[in-house]
Amino acid sequence: MYDYLIVGAGLFGSVFAYEAKRRGKTCLVIDKRNHIGGNVYNEEIAGINVHKYGAHIFHTNNKKIWDYVNSFVEFNRYTNAPIANYNGELYNLPFNMNTFNKLWGIITPEQAKQKIEEQRKAAGITDPKNLEEQAISLVGTDIYEKLIKGYTEKQWGRSAKDLPAFIIKRLPVRFTYDNNYFNDKYQGIPIGGYNVMIEKMLEGVEVRTDVDFFEERESFEKLANKIVYTGMIDQYFDYQHGILDYRSLQFETKVLDIDNYQGNAVVNYTDKETPYTRIIEHKHFEFGTQDKTVITEEYPTEWQQGDEPYYPINDDKNNETYKKYKALADNESNVIFGGRLATYKYYDMHQVIGSALTTVEKELGDLG
Ligand code: FDA
Repeated sequence: MYDYLIVGAGLFGSVFAYEAKRRGKTCLVIDKRNHIGGNVYNEEIAGINVHKYGAHIFHTNNKKIWDYVNSFVEFNRYTNAPIANYNGELYNLPFNMNTFNKLWGIITPEQAKQKIEEQRKAAGITDPKNLEEQAISLVGTDIYEKLIKGYTEKQWGRSAKDLPAFIIKRLPVRFTYDNNYFNDKYQGIPIGGYNVMIEKMLEGVEVRTDVDFFEERESFEKLANKIVYTGMIDQYFDYQHGILDYRSLQFETKVLDIDNYQGNAVVNYTDKETPYTRIIEHKHFEFGTQDKTVITEEYPTEWQQGDEPYYPINDDKNNETYKKYKALADNESNVIFGGRLATYKYYDMHQVIGSALTTVEKELGDLG
């Protein structure tokens, strides 16, 4: 009999397993995929670590979490500085002085502020009724038309006029010549890839991959005193309150016989004609010098049951459904629900690690 059966070998499950092991507990970790790591898993192709489930860049402001991940693996100095490609015109992201200089030829922050203010005023929007109006009221028409509209419409598969304003609460605008996408103090990619970190976490823990909890639910439930469940919460409760919706992605990965395709890890395609939203060139996350390169085009897609669930859709309807499942989860004895799928919440990696650590401490105490 194990102390814990952990369903899911993603970050939540792996951190929980590592910490439980340190506290002398026995765990069995299962995952329905044929590998560990969940969505942070890297697949090696042509000697390059490919982010199989989308680009993953670690960033945090929390020193404790940064020290924690660095205790498993060293991180490189990768800094995310995406480029936007709008019909062949290139702009720096996030919106900063480099972007404004390229858009309008202006030089000083004062000129940039004036330009944005002029455009916001000219649009005359006081009460934004949809995403388009909201974005224009925040950053003006030029930035919206060239850098937001096409990308957002592809991302959601709908016109920005039909999307609710609340999706965009703020748009980060920076009046410095700083292309670093994140404001966080710490950032990087694990040297050797995320698998190194996950393998270290799961060292000495029994792990079975290619095993779906629901295929042998009853026998698994008998194997351990408690379950840590990181799969989809609606599936756990047999969809009795309906299905929770997600937005999905399709990835087209290609090996190219050249050493450098786009000179940057992340290029966003912000025009509406290009069918994908981004191209990721994986080697640049690790300053790779291989002869070949691997690129991935990202296509946002409608999610249907059976597809990979990527982004929860936290609108009123789905949030109401989730609340019902949460109430059931709160009454479920001996099961801990954690991670992005079981809490129907988008988490960055540092957040899911923080949440797993808090859960373990609540469950098994702080080791200091
Ligand atoms: P995760 O999904 O990783 O793990 C859950 C595991 O449970 C999966 O391996 C699954 O197979 C398994 N499972 C489910 N049901 C099961 C069943 N019935 N039986 C057995 N196993 C089962 N964050 C960040 O900080 N920087 C970034 O750049 C990005 N980028 C990014 C891109 C994209 C496209 C997405 C969708 C997400 C990101 N993230 C991110 C977020 C990051 O992926 C996320 O924080 C973690 O992967 C969450 O880890 P979990 O363990 O919660 O879930």
